[in-house]
Amino acid sequence: MTPQDASQITRDMCLIAPVIPVLVIEDLAHARPLAEALVAGGLPMLEVTLRTPCALEAIRIMAQVPGGIVGAGTLLTPADVAAARLAGAKFGVSPGSTPRLLAACEAEGLPTLPGAATASEVMALLERGYTTAKFFPAENIGGAPALKSLGAPIPQVSFCPTGGVSMANAMDYLGLANVLCVGGSWVAPKAMLAAGDWAGITALAQAANRLPRPAK
Ligand code: 3PG
Repeated sequence: MTPQDASQITRDMCLIAPVIPVLVIEDLAHARPLAEALVAGGLPMLEVTLRTPCALEAIRIMAQVPGGIVGAGTLLTPADVAAARLAGAKFGVSPGSTPRLLAACEAEGLPTLPGAATASEVMALLERGYTTAKFFPAENIGGAPALKSLGAPIPQVSFCPTGGVSMANAMDYLGLANVLCVGGSWVAPKAMLAAGDWAGITALAQAANRLPRPAK
């Protein structure tokens, strides 16, 4: 898959809903009801971070949930990419970008949102052909004002900012010309998962889904 094709696919995916839930699944029993709760709340894009032992199995289970589009986050190595693909991930997300990781995503045909935090990193992605990326860790690297500033010289790259994004600041990002959607873990809080509060998670997703979508 070319970087151009990957960017087109991830761009379309980012425009499906204003928020991509970032999920850390510790208990496999949570996978299906969590995916159902988020899809019911209008957030079909689901990023399962490869940070827990059951993450790949969770992707397998969540990929069966009707309406969901399940991807793998925290891709760090080519082995992560291969494992995510095998588990049925439809997209990938990585906190940063290395040539080896990008080559693996291209070879595996996994459309991936590669991470970037600086102008040089965004330029490196653009040189390779990527025009859709993740801005991470968004709040800690200057937040929406920093991302807006990157958009002045490099308007051709669009972002999903992630890291410290919440209902309180999502609009700051969604109003920017170079933002397609935001990512965040706030729609699936650890305590609600532990309590099995799926209705509560659906309510959080509904509220997130009501955030005004950028006109892109
Ligand atoms: C992550 O990869 O951890 C994401 O950026 C989520 O960040 P958040 O927990 O601050 O939403």
